[in-house]
Amino acid sequence: MNRKFKFVAVILAVLVVIAGLAAVAVNKISASVAHRIVEVSVIAVPYDTNPEALVRGKHLFESRGCSECHGADGNGKVMLNESNGLYIKTPNITTGEHGATAKYGEVDWVRTIRHGVKPSGQPVFLMPSEDFNRLTDADLAALVAYVRSLPAGDGTGAVIKLPLVLKALYAFGKIKDAAAKIDHSLPPSTPIPEGATPEYGAYVANMCRGCHGEGFSGGRIPGSPPHWPPAANLTPGEGSAIARYSNVEAFRNMLRTGVRPDGAAVNTVMPFASLNKLSDVEIEAVFAYLKTLPPKAAGGR
Ligand code: HEC
Ligand code: HEC
Repeated sequence: MNRKFKFVAVILAVLVVIAGLAAVAVNKISASVAHRIVEVSVIAVPYDTNPEALVRGKHLFESRGCSECHGADGNGKVMLNESNGLYIKTPNITTGEHGATAKYGEVDWVRTIRHGVKPSGQPVFLMPSEDFNRLTDADLAALVAYVRSLPAGDGTGAVIKLPLVLKALYAFGKIKDAAAKIDHSLPPSTPIPEGATPEYGAYVANMCRGCHGEGFSGGRIPGSPPHWPPAANLTPGEGSAIARYSNVEAFRNMLRTGVRPDGAAVNTVMPFASLNKLSDVEIEAVFAYLKTLPPKAAGGR
């Protein structure tokens, strides 16, 4: 063998071994992040099975994204199946015996929904509990009672498969699970009177934060598949999308139909199946709230 060729072959072999070792390390570190124990102190919220509460719970289940990710029947479904190897099947969250919540007690629902922490103490990976941390006790009680009233499904727990690059980003804290984003020391939010006010809008708009960012300035959604567009800037800053909406009618129409005022379709990464269930008052409140946001350049999150 020619000496030069031999030298290149040795270098290549060394690189293959290094890449293999790096992959093993990434798998190990990401598994240790996923399996870490997150200590949170939670107080049980009793289920509220009053008929009005169940109506409220159904509305929250349908409008806040639960049904879009877990299925209208709560039985779990394949949510993402990407060519890069990202595969997410959400768990069955009904009382069905093979589901994730079969053995849940009142306190377990609070820990998962508000804190993104499973009964084992380990964090959820994709479930956007940061959007739900601020749910009031009354709303949480109604939501959980509704989920528990769904017919027991035969679905199983979650199946989550991540490509190596996402594992690496997760291992080194570039993408964070909900438990890492939430301030677990905050007390439950105090009830905010329902109305078309910025205060109530801020409460509803918590569900937009996971995608549009803590400060609503949008940008790439961390860990999202490469073909997803960045979330829009909902502040009046540079690159603002909300500037397109001069009145609440236009905004409501976009949330209900998925079509912008100029007739272009908004990408369906925006969860329209849930957003079009928001009530008129909720939409007016969110619009009023977004108009109070200080300007931020797009993507500052
Ligand atoms: C963007 C999709 C998404 C939304 C929205 C969502 N979930 Fe989930 N949920 C998941 C995924 C994925 C899991 C699996 C756990 C994980 O993320 O690793 C999960 C897990 C759960 C679990 C079980 C956790 C365990 O113990 O294993 C419960 C309970 C749950 N979700 C309830 C809800 C409720 C109630 C809502 C609405 C307020 C909701 N989810 C909204 C994706 C979602
Ligand atoms: C699952 C992620 C996700 C959630 C949750 C979400 N959005 Fe979006 N949103 C996006 C993405 C991605 C875009 C950019 C779509 C595009 O470029 O076509 C977007 C675009 C927008 C736009 C711009 C539309 C336009 O004129 O181009 C507005 C306004 C908006 N979202 C408001 C909201 C509000 C209000 C909420 C919460 C009530 C919300 N979004 C929840 C992902 C999300």
